[in-house]
Amino acid sequence: MTLQPDGSLLERRLVIVTGKGGTGKTTVSAALALMAARDGRRVAVAEVGRDEHLRALLAPGSPPVGYAGRELQPGLTVFHIDPFEALAEYLGLQIGMRGLVNRGLRNPVFRQLMEGSPGWRELITLGKIWHLQQLEDARGKRLYDLVVVDAPATGHGVTFLDVPRVVRSAVRAGPLSRHSGLVETMILDQANSLLLPVALAEELPARETATLVSRVRDEIGMAIDRVVVNAVARAPFPPEMSDLPAKLAALPPETPTGGLPPVAVLAECASVRRSRYELNRDYVGQIARDCSLPVVQLPNITGGISGPDDLLQLGRELLAPPRRGEDAEATTAPGEAREQAS
Ligand SMILES: Nc1ncnc2c1ncn2[C@@H]1O[C@H](COP(=O)(O)OP(=O)(O)OP(=O)(O)O)[C@@H](O)[C@H]1O
Ligand SMILES: [Mg+2]
Repeated sequence: MTLQPDGSLLERRLVIVTGKGGTGKTTVSAALALMAARDGRRVAVAEVGRDEHLRALLAPGSPPVGYAGRELQPGLTVFHIDPFEALAEYLGLQIGMRGLVNRGLRNPVFRQLMEGSPGWRELITLGKIWHLQQLEDARGKRLYDLVVVDAPATGHGVTFLDVPRVVRSAVRAGPLSRHSGLVETMILDQANSLLLPVALAEELPARETATLVSRVRDEIGMAIDRVVVNAVARAPFPPEMSDLPAKLAALPPETPTGGLPPVAVLAECASVRRSRYELNRDYVGQIARDCSLPVVQLPNITGGISGPDDLLQLGRELLAPPRRGEDAEATTAPGEAREQAS
């Protein structure tokens, strides 16, 4: 069964972007946040990780945003969530002695102890995200229409979301149970919260994405209505030139190429590009089938992502209607269908 996505990503209040390391989570988070802010939404985007890649992508050369966050452009505020800072904030709010808590958390023995303790990072980070959602402006209106989370790489991805449930089943009363309950309710809010997996059109990421999706369905229950397949190779030639590799290979080796490499080299290049495109296309189809979800394909940007223009290009594709199983394997790469249609 292939499910239809439940509408635009911009209609959600919380989007948690997840996926294996290096699949493009930060890029997708930045592109989504940028598009939402352009659409007039007030957006908070939170990066959970050691470095501030997100801020560097959205505002290259700007100073760190830190835990307190900073509005990088109208309507777009970036936060960097460090679990220890989140813990200090939480405990400070609970026991009202922030100074004492800060000193305690700076204690190396305490930190070492915490480094080895499972679960608290996830819980406290999700708690901070819940808190961001609750913030209000002076008129009592929610400060952020949309919170985007650039989550840690999967492996941790499902654990990240499962901690509140585990804590609640272990601790049935008190502030910890209440806190976990609020976070769990936020995650399971099917109308407002969405998990957005990002995959690459390659064998291992395709398999891992299918595992992630089925575990989220079976164990977590968070809404998941599409998969983003990032950096998909574009069709190397227009459809009427699909036999170009064969035509080049059939030419006599001495055929003049007007200063270009010999025909054998050109034939090899054409063949490699077509193989990569076809392989990507097959994996896009496999992801759609194995996850029983529509896919959003983002094109591979030659030379990598170098700034807001690239992000906007990806952002437009990200908000385009996802393609369902059979269309996902169509012979056009992302963007081309629309370009050819117009
Ligand atoms: N569509 C794309 N086209 C070309 N390059 C891309 C694309 N998307 C991402 N990249 C590049 O791939 C690399 C990894 O992307 P990104 O940092 O977004 O991944 P990530 O999943 O956040 O990684 P990590 O797990 O390390 O946080 C970056 O160098 C980025 O510029
Ligand atoms: Mg990242």
